[in-house]
Amino acid sequence: MPEATYQFPEGFLWGTATAAHQVEGQNTNNNWAAWEAEPGRIINGDKAGLACDWWNGRWEEDLKNAARDGQNAHRFSVEWSRVMPAPDRWDEGALDHYREMLKGMRRLGLTPVVTLHHFTDPLWIYEMGGWENNQTPIYFEKFVRKVVAAFKDEVKLWVTLNEPNGLVVNSYVEGSFPPGKKDFKAAFRALKNLIRGHAVAWHAIHDLQADAMASYALYYRAFFPKSNWSPLDALATKSLMGSVNEVFSNAIKDGQVKFALFKDFIREAVGTQDYVGIQYYSSDLVSFTPFKPGELFTSRCCPPGAEMSETGFINSFPDGMTQALKWARQFRLPIYITENGVEDSKDTLRPSYLAQHLHKVWRAANFNYQVKGYFHWSQVDNFEWERGWSQRFGLWKLDKETQKRTRRRSADLYAAICKENGISSEAVRKYAPEVFDILFPS
Ligand code: GAL
Repeated sequence: MPEATYQFPEGFLWGTATAAHQVEGQNTNNNWAAWEAEPGRIINGDKAGLACDWWNGRWEEDLKNAARDGQNAHRFSVEWSRVMPAPDRWDEGALDHYREMLKGMRRLGLTPVVTLHHFTDPLWIYEMGGWENNQTPIYFEKFVRKVVAAFKDEVKLWVTLNEPNGLVVNSYVEGSFPPGKKDFKAAFRALKNLIRGHAVAWHAIHDLQADAMASYALYYRAFFPKSNWSPLDALATKSLMGSVNEVFSNAIKDGQVKFALFKDFIREAVGTQDYVGIQYYSSDLVSFTPFKPGELFTSRCCPPGAEMSETGFINSFPDGMTQALKWARQFRLPIYITENGVEDSKDTLRPSYLAQHLHKVWRAANFNYQVKGYFHWSQVDNFEWERGWSQRFGLWKLDKETQKRTRRRSADLYAAICKENGISSEAVRKYAPEVFDILFPS
């Protein structure tokens, strides 16, 4: 049997990603708290509740586990509604909490990556129309300036917005996120304000911190034409690429905003990224379908052979990671995989998913792509938005009643990879033997 290690570049960042509302608990002053209180919005009527109890200090336990397991970075988000509970008020105590976390991370040897907006808005922003309101980017800039001024000595890597392209679709097209609209006009307004919000945040960060690295984190879904010879399938695939993956990135490239039949130009957005942040989970095969104008004349299905996650939310198709990395490479900037992972309470799929997707990341790095880091979603099970607690993405299992954490096998695999700065045949044989022959063919 072959013995080998796929070695990653020196200085590679290995971490997990979390988001404030999903782990902190007791967030009562944001739009998600209001949304969770409405009957029928979240599966099983779940609520974030105490979440992973990070606000009471349990971040330390999780991040200690992460550091002990060889991780050298962590991506987390600062909750806007805590720092700015009202338009004219700062909560310095909330900033102290994040300062403590940053100090703790430094002690543990974890490089922080800080997200400034991960889906949640303060209730007062929500009540004035959220991202549909042109004032929202202005308030967001104030918040960003406050946070960056406070933490610029501790943080160099910033994520302005998490998955703004996904947020627009979920909130204004599918209606599964607050405000639950299905309205293309509202979606376009919100999209433009998110682009403006990102742009002002990027400029503010650089204003305050010359050597900062800032960008947004893109929701990237990989699309492949169902049939390789059909020009119509190729066209359908291209149109989904444009409307799902490129709607935000095009605006950052050249200021052009195109969504459905709407168009606009936002000059201040041009060039506002220092790296490419990719969040890749799943892929689709796409075919042209004349009877589905609402879905841009496309049908999607799971690639053959791709294993489905527990609730059918994610399929394991590592070639999608390769496609995402190839796409990201066009910008000639450093690339970070800011999220990737799978829901799997029994941890039967996660080890092979992890090993195979990381193998694709390694291949890209080996071909000299500037891939600088990987953040697994997530360290510990947490509140999964409209899917509530029905999906479990953690390397560690959480019993949310007792707050007890239990290590999953995938935590061992990821620890072996982080500590080795590489994927060894030994680790794959031990923790993901089902894909050994794929990764290490003899
Ligand atoms: C991403 C999102 C995360 C997390 C993950 C898994 O889209 O940024 O917050 O929920 O999906 O569902």
